[in-house]
Amino acid sequence: MKFFVDTADVEAIAELNDLGMVDGVTTNPSLILKSGRDIIEVTREICSIVSGPVSAEVVALNAEDMIAEGRKLAEIAPNIAVKVPLTWDGLKTCKVLSGEGKMVNVTLCFSANQALLAAKAGATFISPFIGRLDDINLDGLELIGDIRQVYDNYGFETQILAASIRTANHVTQCALIGADVMTAPPSVIKAMASHVLTDKGLDQFMKDWAKTGQKIL
Ligand code: E4P
Repeated sequence: MKFFVDTADVEAIAELNDLGMVDGVTTNPSLILKSGRDIIEVTREICSIVSGPVSAEVVALNAEDMIAEGRKLAEIAPNIAVKVPLTWDGLKTCKVLSGEGKMVNVTLCFSANQALLAAKAGATFISPFIGRLDDINLDGLELIGDIRQVYDNYGFETQILAASIRTANHVTQCALIGADVMTAPPSVIKAMASHVLTDKGLDQFMKDWAKTGQKIL
């Protein structure tokens, strides 16, 4: 499973990238706001660090303007994936931009039917939002499984990019279901390294080591 990092925080991206944990990046208008930076400038900097797909989201609501914004965003770097919302106009934009050979990430997906439409419109990535479904007491992981089955039934090549991941357990479950990609905030990727038995075991080793009176360096 590929790991995308869901942030526009350049320092956090660079740290994870140095560890080989970053296969791509996803941003959205809220993350751009959080970064406090200009979308073009920060996206360009991210693309200079990461060689995999970097999603940059359009903000127009009609297809004509979405297409123009998508073309402008795609000029930033060859690894830009234009992110469009799963609306009828977003699907039209997906069809046009994917026809031009651009990567397109169709975002804000909350149903298998929406994912089916995005695949038919030529999406490179479909982004089902797990956490936001869980927030309203629906099962976000079940949606990932449904889309996996639908895509496999018909051999769609659109990659399932599990998004709105809030916990390390979401990552495990997505990997078990067979999501192609997951995007998570840096804090969730770091949390994946934690285990209570690792901490307990290390504590015991340190105590026993101190008793030996030895040093390695
Ligand atoms: C992904 O592309 C989205 O930007 C992101 O995963 C949304 O996550 P949230 O629901 O935690 O804001």
